[in-house]
Amino acid sequence: MEVVIVPDAGAAGDLVAEAMARLLRRKPDALLGVATGSTPLPVYRALAAKAAAGEVDVSRARICQLDEYVGLPAGHPESYRSVVLREVVEPLGLDETCFMGPDGSAEDIPAACERYERELAEAGGVDLQLLGIGTDGHIGFNEPCSSLASRTRIKTLTRQTRADNARFFGGDIDQVPRHVITQGIGTIMEARHLVLLATGEGKAEAVAQTVEGPLSAMVPASALQMHPNATVVVDEAAASGLKLAEYFRSTYESKPHWQTI
Ligand code: F6R
Repeated sequence: MEVVIVPDAGAAGDLVAEAMARLLRRKPDALLGVATGSTPLPVYRALAAKAAAGEVDVSRARICQLDEYVGLPAGHPESYRSVVLREVVEPLGLDETCFMGPDGSAEDIPAACERYERELAEAGGVDLQLLGIGTDGHIGFNEPCSSLASRTRIKTLTRQTRADNARFFGGDIDQVPRHVITQGIGTIMEARHLVLLATGEGKAEAVAQTVEGPLSAMVPASALQMHPNATVVVDEAAASGLKLAEYFRSTYESKPHWQTI
């Protein structure tokens, strides 16, 4: 995998937004897989700024969601559907028709998971999937010991993930849903390009295990080691546990541009 170390979260956001813009210039109706949480917000802001400045036409872009809480009422401000509409779809000047995601309020959750897998396949697959990473190494909400071949399904969040996400629910862990629908690791691995973004020291250990540790279901993000086109973008703080940091810097600096995009 390609590892790109940038000075800070703003630079990481700009770099990934430019990757998305380049994809959209080449393929205007590209399907962009988006993550929620705090880390990707600078990407969405930078992409919206590029669109507003006329640097990229996003009008035909398609957006899909990685995961969703189960049991939040439709329209709840912290449902991931609401978050993606608010942080990605609306700032890009798009409407809901460009957007697909799993239905966390469905009566029949397994059927909703199967439906979402079908929709992704019928849409031609994800062109670029942006991923965050949990402090426990999860991608999507594939918590440690998720099957590396898993498909979209319901998962139970670890206490650590619910504690990490309590900040979105007034700091109250009991308000954080216990269950989610998440694309499986096998589903995520079918995206044509995976871009994992991590910023801040709190992610340093998970990043080091993902990039330099063994391939293991205990660190779901380590599955990226098996993807033919995976890019890990980290700021200096998130890179601080990498033994090969100098090597990654030198390989990136010696390239004329970010070649995998
Ligand atoms: C959310 C998701 C999660 C987050 C991860 C990091 O859609 O897929 O894997 O990316 O929990 O969250 P932040 O960025 O808030 O640290």
